[in-house]
Amino acid sequence: MQTSQRIHNPSIAEKVVSAQVAAALVADGMVIATSGFTPAGYPKAVPLALAERAKKGEKIGITLIAGASVGPEIDQALVDAGVIKRRFPYQNSKALRDAINKGEIEFADIHLSHLPVWMKNGYFGEIDLAIVEATQIDEQGRIYPTTSVGISNIAVDLAKRVIVEVNSVQPLSLAGIHDIYGVAKAPDTRPIPLTDPSQRIGVPYISCPPEKIAAVVLTDIPDSTSPVAPIDEISEKIAGHLTEFLRNEVSAGRLPRNLRPLQSGVGSVANAVLGGLIRSDFEHLTVYSEVLQDSVLDLIDAGKVDFASATSLTLSPERLEDFYKNLDRYREKILLRPQEISNHPEVIRRLGLIAMNTAIEADVYGNVNSSHIGGTRLMNGIGGSGDFARNAGISVFLTESTAKEGLISSIVPAVTHVDHNEHSVQVLVTEQGVADLRGLGPLRRARTIIDHCAHPNFKSMLESYLYQACERSKYKHIPL
Ligand code: COA
Repeated sequence: MQTSQRIHNPSIAEKVVSAQVAAALVADGMVIATSGFTPAGYPKAVPLALAERAKKGEKIGITLIAGASVGPEIDQALVDAGVIKRRFPYQNSKALRDAINKGEIEFADIHLSHLPVWMKNGYFGEIDLAIVEATQIDEQGRIYPTTSVGISNIAVDLAKRVIVEVNSVQPLSLAGIHDIYGVAKAPDTRPIPLTDPSQRIGVPYISCPPEKIAAVVLTDIPDSTSPVAPIDEISEKIAGHLTEFLRNEVSAGRLPRNLRPLQSGVGSVANAVLGGLIRSDFEHLTVYSEVLQDSVLDLIDAGKVDFASATSLTLSPERLEDFYKNLDRYREKILLRPQEISNHPEVIRRLGLIAMNTAIEADVYGNVNSSHIGGTRLMNGIGGSGDFARNAGISVFLTESTAKEGLISSIVPAVTHVDHNEHSVQVLVTEQGVADLRGLGPLRRARTIIDHCAHPNFKSMLESYLYQACERSKYKHIPL
């Protein structure tokens, strides 16, 4: 890579060093914040060099904060090397999850909209170092993000020193798809002037005083994206029920014909369900979400989605390649924002979003567990699901009615861990049907969920539970 093509500020160009030299800036005990949100736009070369240092026997333990999960160069290599001691606020890596579940790494599951505020308030201590990926650094030293924004703007702003990985695999033409807008700390916070997903309210770069940049590393390691699971029959059925529900909402006059902006969670079911809208008759849809998975590009291509806003492009390898090639076509239809904006409760509530997130299990009263198997084994975390579910115009949760090849019911008498309580869960959808819980008391919620969402193999067990709970419980509001 020609340094001059990507680094336009001469004093910053002089700071180009190898990944090994940059990794030497990391000291034991540091709090490090990185770019990246899902395996998109995260630094790769410096974390890999840091892992090498630790493997050679150096004692390095850090607190690592990223926007959400990131790729294996961080969440696997640094875990394998024993470098990460504390990790916030979300993950989806097997290596990291296993280490957390063994008690080797401290983890706290934090709402993604809270993270920037917590960082600004110093709840994690001072940020010693930010490591961010960029396509380029301009003459003024401004940093242009790549395939995600996440907390990059906050990390650069708060960190004492900044390392920039300038990645030549990330096209320069990504410049312009970002909209960076900062929110002041309370009590100076002002309303966020965003009333439409397509609106630009900020600038396309992250400002950084050049003297703060401690090192620049040139790299060409691509985002380690994953293929999308093929859409199965169950997901198709869930998508069909959801589409039918939305159609009824339009008929009842509760939603406009182009719905409200859509948010869709992570995972194969969420991707499939959003993809299912291709076969619907909805048009001129918009998306206001935190991740854009393949299905959103499919909907744009099919002429169904007019505009999509998020903080990350979580695409499969093929779709990412295609996105790069057709960037000019997508540029007019996609914006990446800081997660402080994509997940901000104020904006979510104002836009009246239709939030669609995934549950591991739901109980008959409408409480949802999205993060812990058996109430104790961490899977991924809540991510942004709480930000969206709590504040959306309609909050939908999706799950298969059974897990582990039909052996376990995903509808249970009481969830083993509560991520989203009955107050945030308005509609539950399984491949069996839709339970519309809006305006129902606990007992009617229970009957609706059992009738419409439970698998036939588990219905009688759940009915018998409810009957016995009603019989034995002194208090009839929520019989347990
Ligand atoms: N009981 C026990 N295990 C269950 C289960 C249940 N009721 N439901 C699912 N599981 C297990 C699956 O068997 C699978 O286990 P495995 O990894 O050992 O095979 C695992 O949980 C994940 O399930 P899967 O069907 O592969 O789900 P997915 O890819 O659709 O992801 C979530 C589902 C809930 C884990 C995922 O959506 C998530 O992490 N959500 C929380 C964060 C979030 O919503 N963020 C988005 C906000 S924008």
